[in-house]
Amino acid sequence: MSTSTTETSKLDRMMRGLPIKMQNTITRTLENVSLIAEIRDPKVGASMLPSAYRGLWQRKGKGDDSVPMKSGHAVHFDLNYGTDFPEMYDLYRRAVANQWDGEWQLDWSTAVDPMNPTTPILGHTPFVPYEGLEAAGVKLDAAEKQKLNYHFAAWMLSQFMHGEQGALYASAQCTESVRWVDGKLYGATQVMDEGRHLEVFLRYLETKLERVYKINDNLFVIIDDLLTDSRWDVKFLGMQIMVEGLALGAFSTMYNQTGEPLLKNLLRYVIQDEARHVHYGVLALREHFTKHLSAAERREREDWAFEVAMLMRNRFLAHEIHDEWFAHRIPRATWNKLMGESPAMTKFRSIMFQRLVPNLQYIGLLSPRMESYYEKAGLMVYAGGKNASQLSEQDLLRDNDTLAEQAIETLRKAA
Ligand SMILES: [Fe+2]
Ligand SMILES: [Fe+2]
Repeated sequence: MSTSTTETSKLDRMMRGLPIKMQNTITRTLENVSLIAEIRDPKVGASMLPSAYRGLWQRKGKGDDSVPMKSGHAVHFDLNYGTDFPEMYDLYRRAVANQWDGEWQLDWSTAVDPMNPTTPILGHTPFVPYEGLEAAGVKLDAAEKQKLNYHFAAWMLSQFMHGEQGALYASAQCTESVRWVDGKLYGATQVMDEGRHLEVFLRYLETKLERVYKINDNLFVIIDDLLTDSRWDVKFLGMQIMVEGLALGAFSTMYNQTGEPLLKNLLRYVIQDEARHVHYGVLALREHFTKHLSAAERREREDWAFEVAMLMRNRFLAHEIHDEWFAHRIPRATWNKLMGESPAMTKFRSIMFQRLVPNLQYIGLLSPRMESYYEKAGLMVYAGGKNASQLSEQDLLRDNDTLAEQAIETLRKAA
């Protein structure tokens, strides 16, 4: 939030005594206004505004049916058919050879009990800090805590699933608009992969957790923004590098923490596919950003990437859980503070960036101009790590806890 601590406490005092529902509406409106105010580059702000309006004010993602989105990107129809990007062709061959079938290769007969504390879906450290909740006046017994953990897992996996639907359309759009035939062949395999990811996450949510949460408003803004942007490289950057890169970090964290064998196996398959997707993204964009864009165009992408990164890091606060569980018991502002300070959530939000930052560096978007911004956000500790073209399968399944602790410490000092 851009409001200073003094302003925040002044606001807290002013709101004290108002009904919690009214406080929540005021906080939500202020969050929306501050999102626009926080965006440093006016061009980036202008390009994101229509999506922010649809996602945050109109809350289109919270509807029941579907949301139309207009893209307007150009389709690149190739007439040459020559080999034009051998590294992409290799990825295509690898993708064809590694297709898997979620129906047969995952054991759907596994009994999943999300209320069993010995096989936690998200691991043993709760994402919602109970001490903080208690200090805010909400005391939960052991069964309620377990139910909250379970719902939080369903919320997070639901966001992964919504992200997969976005990836399905973004990869289809990129397949049309990319200029390399080898890239189009590869893109076709990614469309299939994303369809399968959507299928398995949805099946897990519906049949094992029996709970699907609506899309988070901020995630909706990002997906709406990149699906409606007519520039193919912004779609690539948004989906293949930002959303997929963050998802890869999130998936590997969840893979390492979950005690539920079916989910662990599902994530292992998905991680292998996602790693190829990000690899494809860095190949395409390194070529494009370093050879085909002007300095001003590259700066705009640098700013866009940073804003999206901050949107994902600062605003992914499980408001859907607050709305359902605590909207009448604790103010949204208190919830934001709780989630912002939750050790498990803080670590998760930091470690998501372990895959993203080296990729931004590799494609040329972490220029000296941007380093100080990433430094302040505590993310430069991830710079210099392996990018998507260098990662082995073992690297992908491993979390770097030491770096995450360093990143959190940097932020603590800055605060
Ligand atoms: Fe995916
Ligand atoms: Fe993907």
